[in-house]
Amino acid sequence: MKNENKKNRAQGLNEDEVFQKRLEKHCDELKWLYMELYRNDSMFAELCDHMKQFYQERNKTLKKLDGKREADPNWYKQNDMLGMMFYINNFAGNMKGVKDKLDYIEQCNVNYIHLMPFLDTPKGRSDGGYAVSDFRKVQEELGSMEDLERLTAACHRKKINVCMDFVMNHTSEDHEWAKKARQGEGEYMSRYFFFENSYEPSLYEKTVPQVFPTTAPGNFTWIADAGHFVMTTFYPYQWDLNYKNPRVFNEMMYNFLYLANRGIDIIRIDAVPYIWKELNTSCRNLPQVHTIVRMMRIISEIVCPGILLLGEVVMEPEKVVPYFGTVEKPECHMLYNVTTMATTWHTVATRDVKLLKKQLDIVNSLPKDYVFLNYLRCHDDIGWGLDYGSLLEEGMEERSHKQYLNDFFQGYAGESNSRGELYNADPITGDARFCGTTASMCGIEKAGFEQNSQAMEKAVRQDLMLHAYMFMQSGIPVLYSGDEIGQVNDYTYKEDPDKAEDSRYIHRGAMKWDLAGNVMDMDTVEGKIFQGLDKLEKIRKAEKVFVSNADTWTIETWDKSVLCIGRYFEGHKIIGLFNFSEYDKTAWINETDGDYVELISGNEMQPIGVNIPAYGYYYLKKK
Ligand code: GLC
Repeated sequence: MKNENKKNRAQGLNEDEVFQKRLEKHCDELKWLYMELYRNDSMFAELCDHMKQFYQERNKTLKKLDGKREADPNWYKQNDMLGMMFYINNFAGNMKGVKDKLDYIEQCNVNYIHLMPFLDTPKGRSDGGYAVSDFRKVQEELGSMEDLERLTAACHRKKINVCMDFVMNHTSEDHEWAKKARQGEGEYMSRYFFFENSYEPSLYEKTVPQVFPTTAPGNFTWIADAGHFVMTTFYPYQWDLNYKNPRVFNEMMYNFLYLANRGIDIIRIDAVPYIWKELNTSCRNLPQVHTIVRMMRIISEIVCPGILLLGEVVMEPEKVVPYFGTVEKPECHMLYNVTTMATTWHTVATRDVKLLKKQLDIVNSLPKDYVFLNYLRCHDDIGWGLDYGSLLEEGMEERSHKQYLNDFFQGYAGESNSRGELYNADPITGDARFCGTTASMCGIEKAGFEQNSQAMEKAVRQDLMLHAYMFMQSGIPVLYSGDEIGQVNDYTYKEDPDKAEDSRYIHRGAMKWDLAGNVMDMDTVEGKIFQGLDKLEKIRKAEKVFVSNADTWTIETWDKSVLCIGRYFEGHKIIGLFNFSEYDKTAWINETDGDYVELISGNEMQPIGVNIPAYGYYYLKKK
């Protein structure tokens, strides 16, 4: 911060000149991209005016932070970065409650919190908050914009970053634009996709897949009082915005900057692949989407360069990576490591690390500046987006393998201890996704129910092993709140008619603070998991080799169930071993480049023919 501010001061730049300097750097490219999509000079001029206004409104503390981060663009790649995501009401009732829980967040070694959607949304038609009816209003029961600003400021004092969702693909049908469109106001109808009859919708349906085939089939909804169909890729109450209209783009950028100015550090661009639609295409990942994301990146670098863009691209790897953009023209700072997450659970079910090793090799071969968010599960279902080409070579065919995974995680097959439920089981394609908490999928729920202490010990070990492995991946790890104490599935959503249809709520239960009271007690599940994670997190914080841009690679162990990951950064080297099976194993590795110490136990241990217990994990550090 001092440097950049000093530099600007040394150059005699006042605040306006700082803005001007950034604008000049990017203006040509921004204009070029804008004209490519919209060919509209006056709307572009309006956008620039508004950017300036949002810059002027941005408070001094945030501007200082921007300067500091501009001077150190790798600030978020540090080895202490650890995220946690939660719904505000489930975690602490409301925004003030979250502020009161910041000590707990620090106790979890977390320095980045993702506040799940908290903007105004209609009750019972909210899709977990992803149907926004007002981008400038916080849900009343959670607090106000002032509470949000107080919370982000309190987080910044503790060096905690705050992430929020920017749901830009659609608005709620209760959004003021949608209400006006419903009343037939052409100006607002043109902000969505309206069709008088089913002809065009039926043409789209030929090429556009379905997101929610069971809970919300089709991509269009008939609005009887408007006498029109409207495009609704997600739920019928989520109306897709039409980004061909520059008014939509401009207004949504103003909303984005307004939210950034409330002190948000990380903007998660929800459902970003879907934001541009064209007939005769899948309406996903079209080139114009990248133009828009690149413009967002430029706009934020001009107005609020301290913020990061996190793209939600739940797609196969070749579709995900382009959202990083290029070195000269970056788009998102971070993306979800979704295929690795799904492949991890495939590995849990098969106890065979082959596909996972291959997947990690793909990720590790990408430029080190690409930062992935690693996670075991999030608020959404787990979709079985695996590399079926490779699996077929092993004799595993897609449909039956998906069936096996779903049976396994429901606890029906393969000596499984998992518990959970299917999501959007499609009777036509036979496809289904899966929902459950990490702990339930590892057998903690079943062992608890059966009061089987041996099974519980195994389940806890498997849960910790998966976290230890996740922390070793290249990128930034994010926990789902409650996973740090091994919270199990919550079946109460079935009693709430607004939620009962959507099994994702099974893993979105309220934080059990009574159980969190046990975190210091090693005789409890909560204590074992919390302390086990604490140990790993403290190792990450202490060892520079865990920076997100370290060299990361896999090592052959010659055992089907044992995964080995190496990491190297500035003279430091670490080797992680993870046993995905319920049997003791030997990892036939042979690293003879020096003496090693195992960081979790503190024991001397050489990475040569290592015996590793069932669901065991080691972090071996070269001395
Ligand atoms: C994203 C969210 C998901 C939501 C969807 C529609 O995929 O993660 O929860 O249903 O967008 O907004």
